[in-house]
Order: sequence, then structure tokens, then C-alpha cells
Amino acid sequence: MPIHVQVHADKQAASGAVAARIRDLILLRQHEGRPAVLGLATGSTPLPLYAELIRLHRDTGLSFRNVITFNLDEYEGLSGDRPESYRHFMEVNLFRHLDLRPGATHVPDGTATDQDQACRAYEDAIRQAGGLDLQVLGIGRTGHIGFNEPPSARESRTRRVHLDEVTRRDNAGFFRQPEDVPHGALTMGVATIMDARQVELLAFGSAKAEIIRRTLHETPHAGCPATWLQAHPRSEEHTSELQSRQYLVCRLLLEKKT
Ligand code: GLP
Repeated sequence: MPIHVQVHADKQAASGAVAARIRDLILLRQHEGRPAVLGLATGSTPLPLYAELIRLHRDTGLSFRNVITFNLDEYEGLSGDRPESYRHFMEVNLFRHLDLRPGATHVPDGTATDQDQACRAYEDAIRQAGGLDLQVLGIGRTGHIGFNEPPSARESRTRRVHLDEVTRRDNAGFFRQPEDVPHGALTMGVATIMDARQVELLAFGSAKAEIIRRTLHETPHAGCPATWLQAHPRSEEHTSELQSRQYLVCRLLLEKKT
């Protein structure tokens, strides 16, 4: 899977480029008569992307009737009607503004009594939908993608994980009190993400510069799960451009030659 790094002028430009790829994918799949399967992320990073998808739907008539979505993760113990849950986040920031079919959106069930079974069923549902066409990713400062905290194996699949304290602190702003942030989550695994036909990782701001540097330069290892996204060494041109930037706006693109 060749990796490309594109540095954009600002968040809007980077998000617009990803939105355009999603639009093209939806139109292609529509033409082929099969659904487009999107992997989606939460956090502040994808918000401009979701705003742009809503705009494309509203202003250009782009339809999401033919789209199936799978979110990366959900907090353990939070039902979808809780305002801090990722299901709620997605409803408010994207789903309710589009013409998705009922049942077309999937978020892991943080309240499942049998978590292992819920995780297996999530993997099965992705497979039955035809696999992820395009996975949107942000990145956590621990190097997590989804909630694949260090250490996360390359072969990991959807499962229950324990959240790093750095991550709990970073995400505390979405909760009433820092101690309300759950200690666990259900997340797609690294292998689930790597099976996607395209991956678009967005990273904005100086707080992400160091983890992007590590993602690109460290030999892939479980201690920095985002490094698994590497396939081969990137060009010097790209890496030097990234190193020279204080405020980072970048996209990492991975595409399978299928
Ligand atoms: C959470 C999510 C990740 C996301 C990360 C970064 O931990 N589980 O999928 O990438 O937040 O959040 P932000 O985009 O707000 O920096």
C-alpha cells in the first residue's frame, strides 16, 4: 500500500480534498449499482470534513442513499443517546443532515453485554457490506488510530481496549468532568482499518506534529499503532516538508492497488 503525504494550506483545503474523494467514491459506486462503504471517525479533526459533506448534500444534491457507514469506535458503557457517546456525536454532526437510509449507519455498541460477540458481529457486518471502501482517520497523541492504543498489534481486530490516560485527558473536554471519561472502549482493530481500500488520515495543528513525525519515521511497531499505516519509506521531499512545519495540516493517503 503506497503512502502519500499531502500538506494543505488549511483545514478546509485538506477536508475539501477528502470530501471530494468521498463524493467521487459515492458516484462511482452509484454507477456500479452497489453501496459505498465508508469508515468514519470522531474527534474535532473530521468536523470540517463532515461540514463539507453536509454542504455537498445540501447544495449539490449529493445523495447518501447508497452509502453504508461504520464508525471506528465507541466508549464502553455509553449508550447512543448519551450526549458524550460517539453515536450521538455522529448523529448531531453528520447523520441527521444527510439522506442516509435507516439502519445504514453502524457504531460499535458500547453497552453490549457480550462485548466479544458484539465485536465479532461488527467485523462480520463490515465484511457483509463488502468491506470498507474508504476509512477516515484522525490520530491521537499516543499514536492511536480509532482507539487502538499502544500496544496494538498489526493483526488486531474489533475488540475492547483500555484507554490511555493521555487519551482520557485529551478527550475530557467532551465530558462534564474529566473523571467521567470512560476507561474502556470498543474499537475496530488495526487489521480492520488496514483492510480498507483507501485510508485518509487527517492531522491538524502543532499538537499533532510530533506524532505524525513518529508515524512516518519509526519502524512500524505496536507501541505507536499509527506506524502500521506505513507500507514503504516515503520520499525525502515529503518528509522534509513536514519537518519544517510548526503548524501541521496534512493528509496521509493510503490506497490499495486493487
Ligand atoms: C479520539 C478518537 C480518535 C481520534 C482522536 C483525535 O480519541 N477515538 O479516533 O482520532 O480522538 O481527536 P481530535 O481529532 O479531537 O484530535
